[in-house]
Amino acid sequence: MKILRSIEEIESLRSEWQSRNLRIALVPTMGYLHAGHLSLVHIAKAQSDRVIVSIFVNPAQFGPNEDLDRYPRDFDRDERLCAEAGVDAVFYPAATDMYAADHSTWVLEDSLSQTLCGASRPGHFRGVTTVVLKLFNLSGCSVAVFGRKDAQQALIIRRMVRDLNVPVQVVFAPLVREPDGLALSSRNKYLSPAERQGALSISRGIFQAEERYRAGVREAAPLLAVVQESISAAGGKIDYVALMDQDTLRPLAVADRPALLAVAAFFGQTRLIDNVFLE
Ligand code: PAJ
Repeated sequence: MKILRSIEEIESLRSEWQSRNLRIALVPTMGYLHAGHLSLVHIAKAQSDRVIVSIFVNPAQFGPNEDLDRYPRDFDRDERLCAEAGVDAVFYPAATDMYAADHSTWVLEDSLSQTLCGASRPGHFRGVTTVVLKLFNLSGCSVAVFGRKDAQQALIIRRMVRDLNVPVQVVFAPLVREPDGLALSSRNKYLSPAERQGALSISRGIFQAEERYRAGVREAAPLLAVVQESISAAGGKIDYVALMDQDTLRPLAVADRPALLAVAAFFGQTRLIDNVFLE
């Protein structure tokens, strides 16, 4: 497995692989890898000849009061996990190489980014779309895999690719959970045992909403209420609990078309997200 730390290194590997007509898959990550990330790697391997995992805690997608500095990092462990998963190359750039001091060009998706996490985290998705397009360009990937854990992000990337005719196939991967239901996230590391226990109310609420949906309930109010009540009862602070149209990310009063039930909530200082696609 190759470790690529500079722009020159990834560009030269890309040229070599492209000249041999190898199909390249990219799995963009911010590291501190877990089984959710590795499930993306397995999907990427099945769809390509070579897999690149990028590990880059992207400063451009963090707000001034967010957790950029304390975001968990463990490159040695990530490197080992990637090698075990059969990754061909890890791209691990420095922020100063990814962003010139006078960097001034941004990719802005202007519709799906307005709501949910986009409303709570101004500028977040501009940072995501910009770095993802840079990573697509650098890696020369034909396919890239994104997890449904970050459903809004995946939908925004798919929109960007369509709107800008980016020659990359975007694959959505299922959300991976702990055995007790908690959605896997690098940020789970921040949770105290009591907070982690409380955080289970998110997935519990989501499963109950899903059950109601399967039983035929379509009105947003009862689907959302069960999630809100679950989180509030466990002492969580809700950022949003919303039922959205999967295509437009506009709120739905009735889930009469493919919908996304999305949640963001704080347990202690830690902001967690979770969701379920209702279709
Ligand atoms: P990160 O949070 O590290 O996630 C990297 C990828 O792993 C994303 O596509 C995310 O949806 C997926 N992922 C995370 N947890 C998952 C889970 N429990 N189940 C399935 N997939 C999961 O998302 C980012 O990094 C960044 O915004 C990035 C796209 C790399 C741009 O900087």
